[in-house]
Amino acid sequence: MNRIFSGVQPTGNLHLGNYLGAIRNFVRLQDRYDCIYCVVDLHAITVFQEPAELAASTREVAAAFVAAGIDHRRSIIFNQSQVPAHAELAWIFNCVARLGWLNRMTQFKEKAGKNRENASVGLYAYPNLMAADILVYKATHVPVGEDQKQHLELTRDIAQKFNNDFKTELFPLVEPLIMGTAARIMSLRDGRQKMSKSDPSDYSRINLTDTPDDIAQKIRRAKTDPEPVPDGSPAGGTPESRPEAFNLIEIYAALADLDHARVIATFGGSQFSTFKEALTELAVTTLRPINGEMRRLRAAPDHVDRILAEGAGRAAAIAEPILAEVQRVVGFVRRR
Ligand code: TYM
Repeated sequence: MNRIFSGVQPTGNLHLGNYLGAIRNFVRLQDRYDCIYCVVDLHAITVFQEPAELAASTREVAAAFVAAGIDHRRSIIFNQSQVPAHAELAWIFNCVARLGWLNRMTQFKEKAGKNRENASVGLYAYPNLMAADILVYKATHVPVGEDQKQHLELTRDIAQKFNNDFKTELFPLVEPLIMGTAARIMSLRDGRQKMSKSDPSDYSRINLTDTPDDIAQKIRRAKTDPEPVPDGSPAGGTPESRPEAFNLIEIYAALADLDHARVIATFGGSQFSTFKEALTELAVTTLRPINGEMRRLRAAPDHVDRILAEGAGRAAAIAEPILAEVQRVVGFVRRR
């Protein structure tokens, strides 16, 4: 059976990259798979989070899932800390994964920066917990943006080593589902940096909670160059030579669900001011219903908490027997 698992960190500022690269795909996959979508609060605390903000962000991500169209009756929506099996399996994986594997993780290097000695141990072991998230459900497919690819390769390595060490076929080898043009949406201020929750400049991203005015201002101020919109000819440049221009085209294409060649055919050669107006209109109309529903759910935290609790119960019912199977394979003596 095919099962989808994916997660989003509750660290504030859900943005267009999260939506186009991940959450919108979560919605679409519900028709074809059993889906489990998790707000990964255990991952969030690998970097210090103010407790009240963590709780608010957890509800906010759950609200974004629902507002974007994930049906909590069909799919499972929950937060990671309510299902202890994630942390229990992560410990076992801490003992399977090799230091050398984690030393290669580029995201740790980026997040820890120069002050590696001062990063939390959790930040370093982060990918093992991510492998546990996926494998505690024996999920087969994981929809993510491009930046998570290396973590999924590590998940496969962990599954394979566990299966080899314990001479079992317990874990499947997961497949990443990295979909289409929106797998890597870049910052509006610098086309070589990905759009990110942690960028200090709010002008670098479009947040799912931005008002139409915010969106219009951010797109108007988005960095471009003095040339017209690329027209597909050699003179129009390439994504390497004009990263900001091509990023705006990718965003338009992803929002409109069009091939970027179609966007270039429509807007190529026009002035950026004209294209930016069309992009603003499209972004505002696409995000308006999600934004409205998120506001409604923000005013109903009890309702969101019930969705999370009910989802956690259903998630635990799948995870616990799988964890018990792992514990038997490892040789842990269990209560009968
Ligand atoms: P997180 O919270 O950073 O991001 C959530 C999802 O959004 C995607 N994404 C992007 N896609 C396109 N362009 C961008 N600029 C962009 N920025 C973010 C991410 O690829 C991701 O799919 N480690 C994960 C959370 C996680 C997880 C898991 C994911 C924990 N356990 C198990 C899958 C399976 C993370 O930090 O995502």
